[in-house]
Amino acid sequence: MNITVIYGQQHRGNTWRLTKLFLDQFEGAAITEFFLPQSGPLYCTGCMRCINKGETYCPHAETVQPIVEAIDQSDLIVFASPCYVMNMTGQMKSLMEHLAYRFMSHRPEPSMFRKQGLVLSTAAGAGAGKTTKAIAENLFFWGVAKIYRYGVAIQALDFEQISAKRKHKIERRVNRIVRILKRNTGRVKPGLKSKFMFAIMKLAQIQNEWNPTDREHWVKHGWLAE
Ligand SMILES: Cc1cc2nc3c(=O)[nH]c(=O)nc-3n(C[C@H](O)[C@H](O)[C@H](O)COP(=O)(O)O)c2cc1C
Repeated sequence: MNITVIYGQQHRGNTWRLTKLFLDQFEGAAITEFFLPQSGPLYCTGCMRCINKGETYCPHAETVQPIVEAIDQSDLIVFASPCYVMNMTGQMKSLMEHLAYRFMSHRPEPSMFRKQGLVLSTAAGAGAGKTTKAIAENLFFWGVAKIYRYGVAIQALDFEQISAKRKHKIERRVNRIVRILKRNTGRVKPGLKSKFMFAIMKLAQIQNEWNPTDREHWVKHGWLAE
């Protein structure tokens, strides 16, 4: 099993600790990790080249594409960001902006329709749920078939200080999600919501030819002929 993990932070703090609880249960898996911003792109310049001309024209393609390749080769993709001011970190948002060209409205990557996504966040008090929701929304628009979210309010200064009772509750939830992820591996199919969104985007492609780069992608995959 291949797993790619993208951290919205560089330090090994609470979010890393939560992610580790998951990863430790995937013995034998090939795990590729990216820590942002060190191994991620700078801020999106808004040049639109990725969308209009192709992703290799992005001025930050050199840092974005290795992440994309790892994602594409994975069965499970994990996005883990601490909650900073009620949302994902700036560096995680920056990566998301660089992947806008993969939205179903543009050029979705077919392998996404068979992948599982896991979105994790920690907050001191409020905002972990909002953070996972915002990241998961991106995964949905890429076409990721199954997306699981877990946002934890640490309610302590760090992971070590979480009460035993609370830690136990976190571990139970982690174990439950891991069981589902393992059970689904190799037999993931997109849900109704994804299929519906894809159908709407297909209609948009049929009716509009405003972006030839996107259209070529849809034609190449035979999606307009089906
Ligand atoms: C810049 C910044 C903003 C933060 N904003 C929030 C917030 O909006 N809500 C919250 O509950 N905690 C907030 N926190 C606390 C972190 O979310 C919390 O400590 C988290 O577990 C840190 O994870 P990490 O150790 O992986 O960085 C913030 C921390 C920082 C550094």
